[in-house]
Amino acid sequence: MIAVAITGASGPILGIRLVEELLKAGRPVHAVASEGAWRVIGHELGFKRAGASPLAAIIGKRGIAPAKLLAESDDRDFFSPLASGTTPLAALVVAPCSMKTLSAAANGYSDSLITRACDVALKERKRLVLVARETPLSAIHLENMLKLARAGAVVLPPAMAFYTHPRTLSDMTDFVVGKVLNVIGVEHSLFKSWDKQSAELKKRKKK
Ligand SMILES: Cc1cc2nc3c(=O)[nH]c(=O)nc-3n(C[C@H](O)[C@H](O)[C@H](O)COP(=O)(O)O)c2cc1C
Repeated sequence: MIAVAITGASGPILGIRLVEELLKAGRPVHAVASEGAWRVIGHELGFKRAGASPLAAIIGKRGIAPAKLLAESDDRDFFSPLASGTTPLAALVVAPCSMKTLSAAANGYSDSLITRACDVALKERKRLVLVARETPLSAIHLENMLKLARAGAVVLPPAMAFYTHPRTLSDMTDFVVGKVLNVIGVEHSLFKSWDKQSAELKKRKKK
């Protein structure tokens, strides 16, 4: 199982697209969104939190991937499987990750399910990927990131790339989601890897 946590940084679409790609790949996902995430989801994507499985409802409305393999928890639910190190977990991805959640994770301050799940991932040496979104970064943000990287987490900011020739915001989003999938070892076709791109470039130059 792969866990995806969405927090209140800009870009909750990153977490939603990640969940969709994992579901499309047939991977069971356990998702959780913070209070802050729901505020930003409303503002940026226009979805309201509704029903007992609000993320599954959004995935269902978007119609990109079936939501069958999706379980979800409330961020206040410490009885969730995500709260314990005994739950088998391939990886936890926080996408996007706010500076508040980043700080809590860096300091072992587990006052929500998401921050507890980060703490658990670190202590159990599980793959933890933090799609940390803020700009510019203060020394405090950078120190927290360094602390987390030293503790074994992967800090993966949603940094723009232009060498893939993105045409739309959706291409940019998929590039970041593809980078996350690379880190957690899930195959995807969201962008061409550089070896394939450079082979094509060489072929074109020969003509
Ligand atoms: C529209 C909107 C965008 C935000 N974007 C960011 C952001 O990019 N990075 C960040 O660290 N906080 C951002 N915030 C602030 C967080 O939502 C806030 O610090 C919140 O307490 C984070 O809590 P959480 O990590 O539990 O979700 C944003 C808030 C709003 C309303």
